Amino acid sequence: MRIDVISLFPEFVAQCAAFGVVGRAGERGLLSLHGWNPRDYAEGSYRRVDDRPFGGGPGMVMLIDPLRASLAAARAADPAPVKVIYLSPQGAPLTQAKVRELASRERLILLCGRYEGIDERLVQAEVDEELSIGDYVLSGGELAAAVVIDAVARLRDGVLNDAESAVQDSFEDGLLDCPHYTRPVEHELGTVPPVLMSGNHADIARWRRQQALGRTAQRRPELLDEAALSKADRRLLDAYRDAAAADAPAIPVAASEKDRNP
Ligand SMILES: C[S@@+](CC[C@H](N)C(=O)[O-])C[C@H]1O[C@@H](n2cnc3c(N)ncnc32)[C@H](O)[C@@H]1O
Repeated sequence: MRIDVISLFPEFVAQCAAFGVVGRAGERGLLSLHGWNPRDYAEGSYRRVDDRPFGGGPGMVMLIDPLRASLAAARAADPAPVKVIYLSPQGAPLTQAKVRELASRERLILLCGRYEGIDERLVQAEVDEELSIGDYVLSGGELAAAVVIDAVARLRDGVLNDAESAVQDSFEDGLLDCPHYTRPVEHELGTVPPVLMSGNHADIARWRRQQALGRTAQRRPELLDEAALSKADRRLLDAYRDAAAADAPAIPVAASEKDRNP
């Protein structure tokens, strides 16, 4: 996959993508990242990329032409169809479903604003989609671009060692992930839930599902409205809630035949 980033600080985005699984994806040729700096396409000895807003008011606005020229260069660098995304607090919220959709593409161009943002005419003419990484305002789109690159790259084939691990992550099936534990079993901070060491894969799967359901209900109840819950899911969730209400130390894993064969 090829991702081009239009930014006044392309090295910043490249650095963010240089570590961990995304960095390895780059080294293994699964992701190629290219930075384009509008200042390189700006005219005059000052290489100006911004100007005062019409109508007055504070701040500066990014000029059309340096951005347009860098976009044209990025588009021309590869013939594959490309989607241009402007990272903006006014964009649609970035979700895991959107990340999956972006990860299925071969090319993306990420446009990073600075100052008060970008001249609206360029956005209207060149941008296919606006995406926001949250309801807060960053000083520039670079961190948002790095977030998109990280989330997208890890879903590409061959990037994660175990592709299954992404499928089990939060939001993939509309729920939050279950809690995870590793060695040691006994620690002064607590004991690993015994079911995880039972070797019974059906019980472990049911416990994990119950935890995912319970956590989602507690932390992000609105997600449950959209999730397709089975009857068995509802029984697991009821048991989780009963245990939580009773302040029970462990959540009982329902083991009735009905739950095993919903
Ligand atoms: C200071 S912000 C401009 C905010 C703009 N005046 C507004 O209120 O909508 C500068 C740049 O940071 C980026 N940015 C800021 N917050 C963002 C967010 N939540 N998600 C994605 N990009 C963001 C955008 O590229 C934006 O052009």
